[in-house]
Amino acid sequence: MSQHETPLFTGLKEHAKRNPYQFHIPGHKKGQGMDPEFRDFIGENALSIDLINIAPLDDLHQPKGMIKKAQDLAAQAFGADHTFFSVQGTSGAIMTMIMSVVSPGDKIIVPRNVHKSIMTAIVFSGATPVFIHPEIDRDLGISHGITPQSVKRALEQNPDAKAVLVINPTYYGISANLSEIVDIAHSYHVPVLVDEAHGVLIHFHDKMPLSAMQAGADMAATSVHKLGGSLTGSSILNIKEGLVSAKRVQTILSMLTTTSTSYILLASLDTARKRLATEGYSIIEKTIKLANEAREKINQIPLLYCVGEEILGKEATYDLDPTKLLISVKDLGITGYDAEVWLREENNIEVELSDLYNILCLITTADHEKNIMVLVQALKKMAEHFGKNPGGKPVQPLPVHVPDIPVLALSPRDAFYADTESIPFEESAGRIIAEFLMVYPPGIPIFIPGEIITQENLNYVKETIEAGLPVQGPEDPDLKMIKVIKEHIAIR
Ligand SMILES: Cc1ncc(COP(=O)(O)O)c(C=O)c1O
Repeated sequence: MSQHETPLFTGLKEHAKRNPYQFHIPGHKKGQGMDPEFRDFIGENALSIDLINIAPLDDLHQPKGMIKKAQDLAAQAFGADHTFFSVQGTSGAIMTMIMSVVSPGDKIIVPRNVHKSIMTAIVFSGATPVFIHPEIDRDLGISHGITPQSVKRALEQNPDAKAVLVINPTYYGISANLSEIVDIAHSYHVPVLVDEAHGVLIHFHDKMPLSAMQAGADMAATSVHKLGGSLTGSSILNIKEGLVSAKRVQTILSMLTTTSTSYILLASLDTARKRLATEGYSIIEKTIKLANEAREKINQIPLLYCVGEEILGKEATYDLDPTKLLISVKDLGITGYDAEVWLREENNIEVELSDLYNILCLITTADHEKNIMVLVQALKKMAEHFGKNPGGKPVQPLPVHVPDIPVLALSPRDAFYADTESIPFEESAGRIIAEFLMVYPPGIPIFIPGEIITQENLNYVKETIEAGLPVQGPEDPDLKMIKVIKEHIAIR
């Protein structure tokens, strides 16, 4: 089959055209049985392919027909031996990837700054995480990835680990030397699993970091929906056989996936793959050019800094995806969140994320010159607005501080399922936390179950909340109370 073909999307369209009398789910039957306002808004075409796994349409749980063909084409495009489609986002693909290689009690080497789906899979599987400290960038106040040397040290101390997990590239577009990490792990016969949520484009252009499959990794969960043009919630899991088994992956994927798989999401994966495989290079080339032009212009604005190739050359900053515009606003004396709100309220601009010191703007294959101009003009206005004090005094840059990573006292699973109690957040220093606490986006936990709460980390959480950033995870959304492991006092 050729990469210009879309067996799944084409098969669905042909099925819809035959217009069969439907006596099956979904009950709206091409939209006829649903609220007319919604039906008219979504449109007939989309609703005609909102179908489920009836025999002619194959089944994601045991693909043999059009889904299998579409997955095979995706495997070819991404340089994998097998590709599995996910209708449960990259979170679903990540959980499958991890749960197909670890059993209860097994060790898995992971960076501490992982997405919550990774920690969720660790809790559910009962695996024990061996954490690697990510490299901290104290200028930007962010974490990068892990280094080959730290992976080597982790494997020397834990040669019995069942997998090494790498985030490549990070949310901010920075990657480590993945090939070297793969070589090190493979010398111990340990598979490398890659969280490639932010790297669907990198496989299709040589000015991008190496993709997981190019670097020889064993599995990669790749968000086609984030940047590759498929619909939200659709993603893929690529695998190279050898150290991991495709059959096991299919079994676990099926265990974790709804039986009502969305064919609209699946079809969007099929067509996104076609576009990336057939036109990817040229559209990504254009995107990189636009992003580099934007970067250059932003760096001419006083007190703003847009990260570029100058940060490369260290072990954790081996390569970068230039389409991510990570903009440090701290020299304006404001937080990233202040900048996010100002851009929203004054310029109708929505950024991808903000943190205490930065905003992240994504330039994608959808962008063009006009969008770049709008962003640059808004950033200029923002710098003028915040960049001068009434008395003409220079603004004070925000000091950057990144808290230490808390110490893990119990396995996340033991802590999550332990006997717990809720205590006031303010009084929790020294106790072992039993729930997750994170800022979303990016969804990286500040605390994971089993870690010892420190005053420094509590202060960081308070600072984050005061800055307006969305702290999520605890059962008490107001964070007045926090769940910790119950302490048992000796009976007299
Ligand atoms: C690094 C990373 N991994 C995994 C995910 C999960 O992706 P999804 O939202 O598709 O489930 C995200 C989402 O933001 C992420 O940032």
